[in-house]
Amino acid sequence: MESRIRALREQLSRHNHKYYIDNSPEISDAEFDRLMRELADLEAAHPELDDPLSPTRRVGSDLTGDGVGTGGNGGSAGDVSGGFTAGSGGGFASVVHRWPMLSLANTYSMEDVADFCRRVEADTDENVEYVCELKFDGTAISLSYHNGALTGAATRGDGVRGDDVTDNVRTIRSIPLKLSGGDLPASFEIRGEILMPLAAFERLNAERTEAGEAAFANPRNAAAGSLKLQSPSAVARRGLDAFLYGVAGDGLPFATHSESLDAARRWGFRVSEHTRTCRSLDEINAYIAKTDALRHSLPYATDGVVIKVNSFALQRRLGMTAKSPRWAVAYKFAAERALSRLKSVEFSVGRTGAVTPVANLEPVQLAGTTVRRASMHNADQIALLDLRVGDAVWVEKGGEIIPKITGVELSERPAESATLQFPTTCPACGAALVRIEGEARHYCPNQNHCPPQIVGRIAHFVSRRAMDIDGLGEETIALLVAQGLASTPADLYSLRAADLSPLPRLGEKSAAGIVEGVARSRRVPFARVLFALGIRFVGETTARYLAAHFRTMDALAAASVEELAGAEEVGAKIAASIREYLSDPENLAILERLRAAGLRFEAEETARLSDALAGKNIVLSGSFAGHSRDELKALVELHGGKNQAAVAANTDLFLAGDKVGPAKLAKARKLNIEFIDEERFIELIGDKNPGDGETTGDKKAAAADSKIEKNPSQGRLF
Ligand code: IVH
Repeated sequence: MESRIRALREQLSRHNHKYYIDNSPEISDAEFDRLMRELADLEAAHPELDDPLSPTRRVGSDLTGDGVGTGGNGGSAGDVSGGFTAGSGGGFASVVHRWPMLSLANTYSMEDVADFCRRVEADTDENVEYVCELKFDGTAISLSYHNGALTGAATRGDGVRGDDVTDNVRTIRSIPLKLSGGDLPASFEIRGEILMPLAAFERLNAERTEAGEAAFANPRNAAAGSLKLQSPSAVARRGLDAFLYGVAGDGLPFATHSESLDAARRWGFRVSEHTRTCRSLDEINAYIAKTDALRHSLPYATDGVVIKVNSFALQRRLGMTAKSPRWAVAYKFAAERALSRLKSVEFSVGRTGAVTPVANLEPVQLAGTTVRRASMHNADQIALLDLRVGDAVWVEKGGEIIPKITGVELSERPAESATLQFPTTCPACGAALVRIEGEARHYCPNQNHCPPQIVGRIAHFVSRRAMDIDGLGEETIALLVAQGLASTPADLYSLRAADLSPLPRLGEKSAAGIVEGVARSRRVPFARVLFALGIRFVGETTARYLAAHFRTMDALAAASVEELAGAEEVGAKIAASIREYLSDPENLAILERLRAAGLRFEAEETARLSDALAGKNIVLSGSFAGHSRDELKALVELHGGKNQAAVAANTDLFLAGDKVGPAKLAKARKLNIEFIDEERFIELIGDKNPGDGETTGDKKAAAADSKIEKNPSQGRLF
């Protein structure tokens, strides 16, 4: 068994490297998932063979104290990352860097680069070699390896002391947990950049916007923010990536930076294939020009080029200034910007009530597109720039998707201009705006009667991933709202084709199609109904978890904030938002009308898979290696059992995981209730292979709520 586990771990690490670093997978995703599942099952059955470096740990465990890196960086003597002290901000332990993490001097012109080379070459007769690299626009990381194993990962922090983010970093698949190679030093650090690929960034922002959360301004902020999440499994889903660009250690056998990068590649690290050795200023300039063109087609953000002296001996001779080395410099690409004029400002109200200032500009060409509108973020930003209508403004497109105003050309300010005032009342409905403590945005609190919020909410309700009702675009919805035909999603269920067909651009055929789509939406599963309501912060994934956990709208509505926060993936902020939504009498009235219209308010009765647990009352406690608690609860029901929240005299089985609640444990012992573990439970339900290799929480939740309904006969759930 042990040898099979070891073989699987090695195989999976190799395929991981092939996939994430070499970009040339040898096996299919399904085969990879199957091997991963086999390993996870074996590891669950043999906890004594646990290894924190196992590839199964990539999905992230949210348990603290589960081994290496949790507040202790492995704790091995002589660890290259030096000492740890507890209690830094944000819940991460603080780590002192063995070698400080320096920053680079920035330059913005070829002349500056030429000056740098002149300074480097001033007191040497050698022909100096330089290594040119991409300057990745992410967040710096320092990784510690000890005997070939990842033992720690720390953020840059203030350069001297950073945060221990080992558990989060372990989920990043392009970072090797174990290294290979005969020439591995016993201990060393390697530095690089954690980044969020553009595709992952766009997906994340779309999800956040949909859930009513603020979007990240750029991939750099998204990467840094993700790395500081408190839940490694949430980090795992963010799709972070990494490039390494600097090896540090005592007595390493390399004479040059490029040799050390070659070795790092051999050991299994992802080093950029765009790194080049240059032997003259001309070659450096050519590299910069080529990269400036190349970067637009890269799947991640870069903001310049880093030029480093190749020889370590020369690096040592050159030394450093107070904060940056004299042997390296960053050439930053100019942010693409253009001068335009601010014609007017609109304050638009989104479906969550957030009021966003949007600038109307004189059209201007920027980075290949015509820009007419730009984001102005919020009131603070407007005040900071002292923006006025008529101003000549600089518009920039950096890593950001939407261009933004970054400055005012004061010399061109018209004589009579007035400071822009952020409205105090909602531009759409007139309600007094509120500003939530600690948030930069203003909100219109008039949720149920503010037209753009109503339109936005109905548009969200009918959207494809929610109720999936075709034919109702925002314009049509706005007409329905304006004509008094709809003011809540519940009104859609009493619309007749005759109400719709007279509306502009809607003939009889499309009117009938909409009515049919509305009728069909009654079959949409409960989780999607929950998502469709548009409760702030309740995105698709959260809705699925909520549906799997509470099963019915009534149970959800009856849950306290504490009970809500007890569901998987639901934090205090989400719990409070759900509670607030479900405490509002107007929302409750809408829900009653939706219930009366026949929408699904219960997670569908799942087809029974067996009667193995028929008549048995089961209490679950603790956390489990192979399944989430919600999955286990779903399995209890699928096999005829009943989940009990608390131990009682009629409890038949106590399914115990890790870290069982002491009170529950004592009560179960006192009542002499039979204890079983996860393995025994799986045996009981006769499901020898309860996995299909889907490992992310997201997919598990999907399985818990929708797969079961769609494939009741499939027999395999998760
Ligand atoms: S070398 C002393 N190489 O830029 C050398 N840094 O301003 C320090 N960065 O904190 C770093 N790409 O986060 C280096 N190829 C690269 C880089 C790079 C991005 C970032 C890094 C660092 C910052 C320095």
